[in-house]
Amino acid sequence: MTDIMWNADIYENAVDARTLESDQATPALGDPRQLRNALGSFATGVIVVTYESGDAYHGVTVNSFTSVSLDPSLVLVSMKRTSRALTYLLERPFAINIMSDAQLDTALHFAGQPKEDLIEWVTDDGAPRINGSAAYFQCTPWASYDGGDHVLVLGRVLSYGQQEEARPLLFHRGQWTSLAADDAGR
Ligand SMILES: Cc1cc2nc3c(=O)[nH]c(=O)nc-3n(C[C@H](O)[C@H](O)[C@H](O)COP(=O)(O)O)c2cc1C
Repeated sequence: MTDIMWNADIYENAVDARTLESDQATPALGDPRQLRNALGSFATGVIVVTYESGDAYHGVTVNSFTSVSLDPSLVLVSMKRTSRALTYLLERPFAINIMSDAQLDTALHFAGQPKEDLIEWVTDDGAPRINGSAAYFQCTPWASYDGGDHVLVLGRVLSYGQQEEARPLLFHRGQWTSLAADDAGR
């Protein structure tokens, strides 16, 4: 009996120790800016998610985009909880616009550096979308999940189109970039 009690104490301590270890894991990572820098070594494309609200068209520049599923056809973006766009993407149609390397101004525009008369909107089908994008996907909200200080938003693709000749805008280590001419089509 004594042995069992003793073992139970050890077990509880072990659980506490695991909890403490996992609590301490975050501070052990150090400066969050360095973590962000290290994560930035993952090169990505860039999209603008567009939607309509209050009779106006809006967009937000995002690089946390990924395809998730073909059947059903699902894509994902990870949105900051403080993003104005987030509440809209959970409840209304939105379009994913994949930026071409000719659309840096557009990506900057929807990341807080607006320019007058820059965006040519297309309103043929679903949410408003941006003319000249490398590809677009018209989506309807499918699900959302807790992602810490972000929310993972899944959209179901209802229609799409692409410009096969377009070259992608890229983002790497905090810099905008594009494919070298020789890399196209490899
Ligand atoms: C290259 C790049 C990638 C970005 N990726 C994301 C992202 O994945 N998720 C996000 O919430 N914000 C991202 N942002 C930040 C938003 O574009 C920015 O905060 C925007 O102003 C938010 O607009 P909103 O508050 O109207 O939604 C990114 C910005 C840049 C420049």
